[in-house]
Amino acid sequence: MTAKLIDGKAISKALKADVRIATEAMVAAGARRPGLAVVMVGSDPASGIYVRNKRIACQETGIHSVAHDLPASTSEAELLALIDSLNADPTIDGILVQSPQPKHISEHAVIERIDPRKDVDGFHPYNVGRLATRQPLMRPCTPYGVMIMLQKMGIDVRGKDAVVVGQSNIVGRPMALELLMASATITVCHSKTRDLKAEVGRAEVLVVGTGKPNMIPGAWIREGAVVIDVGINRLPDGKLCGDVEFATAVERAGWITPVPGGVGPMTIAALMQNTLESAQLRQGLKGA
Ligand code: GUN
Repeated sequence: MTAKLIDGKAISKALKADVRIATEAMVAAGARRPGLAVVMVGSDPASGIYVRNKRIACQETGIHSVAHDLPASTSEAELLALIDSLNADPTIDGILVQSPQPKHISEHAVIERIDPRKDVDGFHPYNVGRLATRQPLMRPCTPYGVMIMLQKMGIDVRGKDAVVVGQSNIVGRPMALELLMASATITVCHSKTRDLKAEVGRAEVLVVGTGKPNMIPGAWIREGAVVIDVGINRLPDGKLCGDVEFATAVERAGWITPVPGGVGPMTIAALMQNTLESAQLRQGLKGA
């Protein structure tokens, strides 16, 4: 079998177009334009690229974007004070503080300081709890983007054996909660999993987010599986690759996401969707 490609670039473009239409419609009806504050502390090069792409997506969707680029020497207290002012700013619907942050800053303290209704990353324990109890408010962007992608491709995960490789707070854990909410039977694998090959081989839906280039050999994939590769890794020769060995996986899977052009663009489109939803909620245009 040669897998069908899931074109995240095309799906994200369509989603951003929908966000733009909804944004302009709400503004035309007299509501305030959604606003997103993107905060970056220090100058991690990869984060710089992500942050720039998030700001470009705001332009594409008509979302008002505010940039706060702070030096690496910024103290935790200064960053928390900025978050307090953004929480209180009525023109700001979404607050995103890019990770990783300098070591002297507690990422947990930063996340917990953000007003959960403005937590467009969906990382605040309140939002994680809402997802765990099947009442999602702000949904973590990468897993939300994956679910939108599956839905757009008409892939129904109900009752399927879904295996998530990686247990990070950003990808693996919320991904498992999303798949559970969609009625898949979920298994989460991590570095202590005894027989990863056997777990992967059972998966009808496989989501991999480990940050380890090509760690899942294509030969492990179950014939016909849906393979979602969240990894974006740069190889020594400068080429990008995922966490799944694509060339061999594409011969066994039923569906597969490419890297780049798969999950990556969906994460940013989901962030725009979250910012729009936050603006609608905060202006009483939508119920929680
Ligand atoms: N760093 C890597 N991914 C993310 C993300 O989705 N949100 C934030 N804030 N930082 C990140």
